[in-house]
Amino acid sequence: MNRSILAPRLVAAFAASLLALALLAPALRAQAAPRGGGPAVLAIQVNHSVAPVSPTLYGLMTEEINHAYEGGLYAQMVRNGTCRADWTGIPRWYLVQDGGAQATMRPDRGTGPSAAIPYSLRLTVRRATAAAPAGVLNTGYWGMGLRPRTVYRGAFYAKESAGAGAVTASLVANQTGRVLASEVIGGIGAAWRRHAFTLRTGGGFRPSAGNHLVFTVAHPGTLWLNVVTLFPPTYDGTPNGDRPDIMRLLAAMHPQFLRFPGGNYLEGRSIAQRFNWKKTIGPLVDRPGHWSPWGYWSTDQFGLLQFLDWCQDLHMQPVLAVYAGYSLNGKHVPPGPKLAPYVTSALEEIQYVTGGVHTRWGAVRARDGHPQPFPLHYVEVGNEDFFDRSGSYNARFAQFYHAIKAHYPQLQIIATAPVTSVRPDVLDQHYYQRAVQFFHDAGHYDKTSRKGPKIFVGEWATRQGSPTPNFGAALGDAAWMTGLEHNSDLIVMASYAPLFTNVNPGAMQWAPDLIGYNALRSYGSPSYYAQVMFASHLGAERPAATLAGGGPRFFDSVTETPGRRVDLKLVNAASTPQPVSVHFSAARLTGRGELITLHAANPQATNSLRHPRAIVPHRRRLSGIGPVWRETMPPYSIQVLQVDLH
Ligand code: AHR
Repeated sequence: MNRSILAPRLVAAFAASLLALALLAPALRAQAAPRGGGPAVLAIQVNHSVAPVSPTLYGLMTEEINHAYEGGLYAQMVRNGTCRADWTGIPRWYLVQDGGAQATMRPDRGTGPSAAIPYSLRLTVRRATAAAPAGVLNTGYWGMGLRPRTVYRGAFYAKESAGAGAVTASLVANQTGRVLASEVIGGIGAAWRRHAFTLRTGGGFRPSAGNHLVFTVAHPGTLWLNVVTLFPPTYDGTPNGDRPDIMRLLAAMHPQFLRFPGGNYLEGRSIAQRFNWKKTIGPLVDRPGHWSPWGYWSTDQFGLLQFLDWCQDLHMQPVLAVYAGYSLNGKHVPPGPKLAPYVTSALEEIQYVTGGVHTRWGAVRARDGHPQPFPLHYVEVGNEDFFDRSGSYNARFAQFYHAIKAHYPQLQIIATAPVTSVRPDVLDQHYYQRAVQFFHDAGHYDKTSRKGPKIFVGEWATRQGSPTPNFGAALGDAAWMTGLEHNSDLIVMASYAPLFTNVNPGAMQWAPDLIGYNALRSYGSPSYYAQVMFASHLGAERPAATLAGGGPRFFDSVTETPGRRVDLKLVNAASTPQPVSVHFSAARLTGRGELITLHAANPQATNSLRHPRAIVPHRRRLSGIGPVWRETMPPYSIQVLQVDLH
């Protein structure tokens, strides 16, 4: 399993005999380190597996950071739709007084649409007419993305007094003031009630993020407003759903799992601000929301069921992280009776995910619109609990472990720090490094004992580039991924983090992030494309293979889908070309295959909203692939060679 060392000076002499070496030592993964360069010679013994590859190796890690959901994946266009006030007033909402209209807008803490949201935006209109209306506008998440001939579905809770009358909802272009869509919503009434509306844009304008939403009235009176939503067409048309462009980017990654809801977002800054799943389910109006540890308010409209729907839509298995009694301010819940309610809450959460409709929480899920239980194999207890200096995780983990196993013995339990109280099934480990560190550390797990828990690399990233990784980062990532694949008998899952960022000024708390977007468009970074290439070419087994030569910045990984194909990943992180020759033994090659190349002129090169496809994979169909295949890799390049088998 481990990679052993060949002295560089032997490389040339060994080149001719590598095939024989592979035959003699099929389990050996030989590599020169440090390697002196020269041609890289790979000998692959097809149909001779030395280790399985985890079918769940590549997945996603996610949390509310950088406006990942609100202002990101979650398609809701209205920012601060729950009209929360601060010392500045009601952020993102502004008063509209057209012509001679006179009105005021203020927070009303005395009335709201529900017990969870007992406050509202109050619009008091002293003078307004149809020609000179008064109202409020919302600026969205750094604008609202609009397209021609598109249907936008919205809703709000409202009540009125003193004859404010019907509300006109309009979508308006920021620069021109042009009304792109509008509808009148009547029958508001004196009691809080939900009102739905539909806005249809016409033609004659270009897609743009520079738009806003306006509500106006044409009569004096008072209008109270809250829980305002507006959605473009969502992925698969799911109500309260996700942005199709971002979902399509994710689908191309073939993610096998989704780790949620964090990360720090699970823990919260304090125990009170943890991800309290029960407050994130049911009608939107019953969700009070909470502060994200990343410094902004979360409405929790993207709640537990939305995470699960997301899994279902992309055929990912959920990796459910449950709050384990430790928060970012260093406070913990002591193990024992004080922790018991949190353990119960985790068990109930698992039942909400997996229980039949006749269980208490399965019935709640059915009420929420999803009678079918979700599959669940992994539960993670906490996040980065090695930060808990009190040492309580050992006992906290054991308390969760025993309770979960007692009710759900089939579940695999993931620990977030080493524990001695009980043997976890899986250990979650995180790596945020520079590319040079990943180059040195690609063999990190080569010598790890196979007798301990399995490994989940639950967060990792090369931290170079902002807001999204540059090509230098993609090279570090690709080198690291070759190491993950070499050790995928041990590493059951791995996920890059963070996944998303809204690229507008002030939206991001952490760089880099794999995928960037604004209110209208999204793009994948070079690191994103490296992951697409690796995850789309993950075989089932690792065949015996030996490597000689190649410089210290050359990395490779070989996997095989028996009887179908061999996938070879090659990484040349050097500034010079890298000659490679690959020897296939015992292979029933069809001669056909494909070479996919991701390449940039230098490590600072990157993608952006303006240049979303500057660095993308290029595919070349191959024919006539024989037992020896030769290629010179360009400087700074990542390649996948797919070789089809009979
Ligand atoms: O990915 C960003 C943060 O890094 C995560 O929330 C946390 O788990 C880690 O420290």
